[in-house]
Amino acid sequence: MTRRDMLKLATFAAALLTTTALFSSNHALAQDKKWKIGFSQVTTIEPWRAQFNKDIIAEAAKHPEVELIITDGEDKTEKQVADVENLIRQEVDALLVSPKESAGLTGVVQQAIDAKIPVFVLDRNVDTKDYTQFVGGDNKLIGRAAGEYAVELLGGKGKAAGNVVEIWGGMGTQPAHDRHDGFHEFTDKEPGIKYLLDQQSGDWKQDQAYNIMANALKTNEKIDLVYGHNDPMAYGAYLAAKDVGREKDIKFIGIDGLPNEGVQMVNKGELTATFTYVTPGAEGLRQAIKFLNGEKVEKTITLPTEKVTKDNAAKILKDNGL
Ligand code: FRU
Repeated sequence: MTRRDMLKLATFAAALLTTTALFSSNHALAQDKKWKIGFSQVTTIEPWRAQFNKDIIAEAAKHPEVELIITDGEDKTEKQVADVENLIRQEVDALLVSPKESAGLTGVVQQAIDAKIPVFVLDRNVDTKDYTQFVGGDNKLIGRAAGEYAVELLGGKGKAAGNVVEIWGGMGTQPAHDRHDGFHEFTDKEPGIKYLLDQQSGDWKQDQAYNIMANALKTNEKIDLVYGHNDPMAYGAYLAAKDVGREKDIKFIGIDGLPNEGVQMVNKGELTATFTYVTPGAEGLRQAIKFLNGEKVEKTITLPTEKVTKDNAAKILKDNGL
């Protein structure tokens, strides 16, 4: 029997059990059915990743029929590839993966697909579309929103002027490229805007962004705006500016907007703005369960975003009990 047949049979059996449960109200029977779902997370040290794991664990707690196995790729492609291979060997019913980078994870994701495991790609993509579903934010859209706001902060459409430092996320990831492209759709129309760095990546990390900014500050007397591809990097740049007493002259824009991180920074006036990037933890797991239960799922689920500035930061904090 192929894996797909087994899956079909299991889905059918589960449906049968659910029906039985409905008629006999024997819920224990239906709940005994365990889906073994593997989740390969790229790293756990960044705040957004910690929130992501919290979200998926909280969702799993609502589904007693699910056994969730989470692995930590420790921010290394080789480790994450080994993690996914391991989950394939464990014959998980579904695989969720949030890749370190596209190219390096594509092969092993393809292996899972070939083994007839439904694959749900979360947040960062891979170089194949043969997976079951992608769940994540629209990074182009977020980049555009950031670019539009940067133009406004620098004087408005047609008049914007200033020196911009852009700190890239991981070069091998689609979110970094989309966040760059979207931003430049707006800022490149402004002849008064100058870019001070040539594609410098802080690999999503605060300390790397600090160093990039510290150097930029040394070589440029005037910096007007920093665009960090995530909040930790925008904050790293802010700290570098603060250490030389120049933070007040500069606007800082980030992305992620976690209430206890980016939103707090905006509320304190450290960052000028951030854009929320909801983690796909809860939705990704819900979708995988839906699929395993035999329902149709869409090829792509796009999560929403919201601009956070001084105007709404306090309210968001309040709404989150902070
Ligand atoms: C965390 C992170 C987030 C960012 C996302 C992009 O690893 O860097 O800060 O929004 O990944 O994939």
